[in-house]
Amino acid sequence: MNGDKIPYVSVLRLGHRRDRDKRITSHLGLTARAFGADEIHLAGEEDPSALETWKSVTKRFGGDFKCFYEKKPLRFLRNFSKNSGDGKPGTIIHLTMYGETWKDELPNIDLSRPMVVVVGGTKVPGEVYRLASHNISVGNQPHSEVAALAIFLESLIGDIEEEKHFSGGEIKVIPNGKRKQVITFEEE
Ligand SMILES: C[S@@+](CC[C@H](N)C(=O)[O-])C[C@H]1O[C@@H](n2cnc3c(N)ncnc32)[C@H](O)[C@@H]1O
Repeated sequence: MNGDKIPYVSVLRLGHRRDRDKRITSHLGLTARAFGADEIHLAGEEDPSALETWKSVTKRFGGDFKCFYEKKPLRFLRNFSKNSGDGKPGTIIHLTMYGETWKDELPNIDLSRPMVVVVGGTKVPGEVYRLASHNISVGNQPHSEVAALAIFLESLIGDIEEEKHFSGGEIKVIPNGKRKQVITFEEE
């Protein structure tokens, strides 16, 4: 971790299209989980297969990553901007190539509040820019929501204590430069 206390981090994936975005949305959730987010909300077309993939990876590789389908993402953001669970506003980070440079904006983020990190797929509604506490770019070139999220979370959260963060799984990977090495835990 980066020394500061990191808030509860949710990722909101807007505008999912079941056919076109299947793989990238799946990878987005896996990236959110691997880089330390606590949960993901999928918006756009309903897609149980994405949620099943994330649940299955969490069951096998451990941790407490949660996933949801969010039918009304703008309403979700409006509510979160006023009340993030304790009656006080949460922090909304919108990742967009048009935003402020992430390295400059990171120190201005209130880490004491729960956070939603929003990424788009299709065109992002203008209201998201207005609701966001911070509109943040990872470079001002168009690239990928997966890359933007990974870099942002790594900058925000830093190293993850994998042993602790991903405890309770069925499989543990042992880092090895020569060969694939895993431990499989037997069920009691
Ligand atoms: C790939 S882009 C837009 C895709 C395009 N509208 C389409 O579907 O053809 C999807 C998301 O990636 C993220 N993204 C892309 N480039 C970014 C950048 N330079 N900085 C921050 N986020 C970025 C944003 O969240 C954006 O909404």
